[in-house]
Amino acid sequence: NPSKMWSGRFREPLDRTFEQWQRSFPFDWRLLPQEVAASKAHARAIAAAGILTPEELEQTLTALDAVAQRPTNWAHRISVTSGQVDYETSNAQIAAAIVASAPQAEDIHHYVELELTKEIGALALKLHTGRSRNEQIATDMRLFVRDAIDHCLRGLESWAEALLTQAEANAEAVMPGYTHLQRAEPVLIAHWLLAYVSMIERDLSRLADARARMNFCPLGSGAIAGATLALDRTIATKALDFTAPTPNSIDATSDRDFMLDFAQAASTLGLHISRFAEEITLYATAEFNFVELPEAFSTGSSAMPQKKNPDLTELARGKSARLLGSATALSTLIKGLPLAYNKDLQEGQEQIFDIADTLAGLLSVLPNFTRALKFRDASMKAAATTGYLNAMAAATYLTHKGVPFRKAHEKVGNAVRFGLESNRELNELTLAELNQFGPEFGEDFYESITLEATLDCHDVTGGTARHQVKQALAEARKRLTAL
Ligand code: ARG
Repeated sequence: NPSKMWSGRFREPLDRTFEQWQRSFPFDWRLLPQEVAASKAHARAIAAAGILTPEELEQTLTALDAVAQRPTNWAHRISVTSGQVDYETSNAQIAAAIVASAPQAEDIHHYVELELTKEIGALALKLHTGRSRNEQIATDMRLFVRDAIDHCLRGLESWAEALLTQAEANAEAVMPGYTHLQRAEPVLIAHWLLAYVSMIERDLSRLADARARMNFCPLGSGAIAGATLALDRTIATKALDFTAPTPNSIDATSDRDFMLDFAQAASTLGLHISRFAEEITLYATAEFNFVELPEAFSTGSSAMPQKKNPDLTELARGKSARLLGSATALSTLIKGLPLAYNKDLQEGQEQIFDIADTLAGLLSVLPNFTRALKFRDASMKAAATTGYLNAMAAATYLTHKGVPFRKAHEKVGNAVRFGLESNRELNELTLAELNQFGPEFGEDFYESITLEATLDCHDVTGGTARHQVKQALAEARKRLTAL
């Protein structure tokens, strides 16, 4: 096994099938930018410790940069030979080409060492002085998750912006609010959309928290007990833009909390996306007829010519299952693992890659989809003004006349039952009819249950009164602009 990084103590060759099966390079090749950045940082640290001369450091850094260019080189070769320009396809082709180009590489760490040796020969073999793959993978994954979080933060901001823009454009329009999926009270469409902005703001803060908590540098932790060189750990920390070195080498090489934090934040975000997707799917049905699906984001049926299907929201709802599944897989992976590094941890990488890709995909379509939605104001308003959605406002009217709320509730309940029997709304009942249920109903009752009054009686911070929502819109705009 002369090609292995660890073959010295082995007499027998590795079983071929096992060798292929345990490799991570077929998927961890995508950590190349992180592995190169971490290797450059380590090179600086060991140079400061006298292991590399200044010239050797320069040579190593230059060669590492060349290795980082490998995917670009493959992309050029592939596009020259096939004329391929499609981004997705050529990404998959690059992956296949890189993996095929290094059948010996056990993992990304081994790959970089092999490629570096092609560039600078024996000097490449000095780079592993004082380090272990255990701290390397811990570092690479932190760098990867940090980038994934940053990408996700930008995508989420853009989705929040799209929702807010829709809310501003529909600042006056109303819809029925639902509890138990039964019509409850009228709300402004803007108020409903701002509910999603609130969810996204919590997602943003969860991700930002996770980012701050994970931003510590494992380099210098060695295999478990710390580097075997008196390295100045602040060198790598600074080079990689971490806050500080991790404080404990055993924890640093076995901790995957940062992956869990990201996965769990992503799955909560996935639940929010899924609830939005479900609502839009429902509201786009003929039965609701609240939302017009943009054609650019819908699909037809190969069988039924009349169909326009909400594939985007259905897929978005489905993708949240993947996010939740990955978070569950990661927790299960870590549960019961003894300290410190165990090879089981290699399994976590694909979950993180899948989460990052799934989120990137979702956030690449959701903002423009949201901007293109059209609300059917008339049918939303009709649904908001039928079905006694003003009953709570009516009961509130009676409380202003001194009726205890529990009694008011009963009197309005009686009026609703009476209305149901003759198929009339509360405002269609005469005063004489209303007075059967309570002498407190007066002429001013009718103006207290108009749509506007029904909205405006919720005059509290966070309520759907028109001027409250106007203010909430302005505040949300201010917060998003400040991000
Ligand atoms: N490919 C390995 C992983 O992803 C890298 C660390 C290997 N360390 C070891 N001691 N075998 O976890």
